[in-house]
Amino acid sequence: MKTIRLQADHPADIIRAGEILRQGGLVGIPTETVYGLAADALNGEAVAKIFKAKGRPMDNPLIVHISEISQWKKLVREIPESARKLAETYWPGPLTIILPKSDCIPDEVSAGLETVAVRFPAHPAARAVIEAAGTPLAAPSGNLSGKPSPTTAHTMLEDMDGRIEAVLDGGPCQVGVESTVVTLATQPPRLLRPGGITLEQLRQVLGEVEMDEAVLNPLKAGEHPASPGMKYKHYAPKANVIIVDGPYESYCAYVNGQKVPGVAAMCYNGEEARLEVPAVCYGGEEDYDEQAREVFDALRKLDELGAKTVYARCPEPKGVGLAVYNRLIRAAGFEVLHVD
Ligand code: TXA
Ligand code: MG
Repeated sequence: MKTIRLQADHPADIIRAGEILRQGGLVGIPTETVYGLAADALNGEAVAKIFKAKGRPMDNPLIVHISEISQWKKLVREIPESARKLAETYWPGPLTIILPKSDCIPDEVSAGLETVAVRFPAHPAARAVIEAAGTPLAAPSGNLSGKPSPTTAHTMLEDMDGRIEAVLDGGPCQVGVESTVVTLATQPPRLLRPGGITLEQLRQVLGEVEMDEAVLNPLKAGEHPASPGMKYKHYAPKANVIIVDGPYESYCAYVNGQKVPGVAAMCYNGEEARLEVPAVCYGGEEDYDEQAREVFDALRKLDELGAKTVYARCPEPKGVGLAVYNRLIRAAGFEVLHVD
């Protein structure tokens, strides 16, 4: 299949993307978080193609994207007051809300669960495509299953060229990590995946919000996570990533002591000066937004360098930094080394 390149600032290309989606095809679309791999959410056959293109396990459900709050009603059994308040505060934006699903959701989308995840993205091109398609769009991140999520059309094509009908280029993503996922299908509400909307922001609207164990910890053998995506190895480059937790001095001493060909570092901006191995920066030490924007690209760049082993500076799990930490510990298969 030849993957067509479309431009988000060309109105004719938005219409074209909408047509492809209406006809059951797959289109890579920009959102403010990461690029998504979209299909008509109400067409089970079209949605099934997403799983094939990504190599995604069929038991991992998808997020349904809408372009107006009014489209939500049809997708869920009911919208409780708490959900409405949350949506009014943070939509459109990097927040996904899970509720019991309605009958119009194909099994392919919910992967056998009784709930559905819905998101109203802020990116104007994402909303324009949903409107052009005339249907809500199911869209996981546009990477091959297990790889870091793409934050540009170019990185999406690295994984998807030849596998999907088109990619719509809308420039680099503003947030850089996937949306916050919260379920209101349980009481109290529970954070399943941290993202651009922080735990503190959720609590401001909802009061009590629990954080799912799987946000920070590996699953124990045989355990069933609330969010099926959490049981898979994720965001991993080809290199073996190890997180090094400790002060900068100790980090440098440790990494420089490991200096052999194939060893690389993933550090904060400006820290590469004292490292004796190739280094890729992933943002300023206290700039969690920048870290979120850079983290996936940094992981892909380390592969381009041919790194075999990567020692990554441990992110601070605060605010949006919690999302960065969550992605990086998964990329590292939960391998964290403590140095003093
Ligand atoms: O920012 C985002 O959310 C991006 C862009 C494209 O919108 N999408 C995204 O989708 O990250 P995906 O499929 O890569 O991640 C969705 C996560 C998975 O971990 C999945 O298991 C979980 O959300 N999920 C989806 N529906 C669910 C449900 N009904 N119950 C529990 N978890 C669900
Ligand atoms: Mg994903």
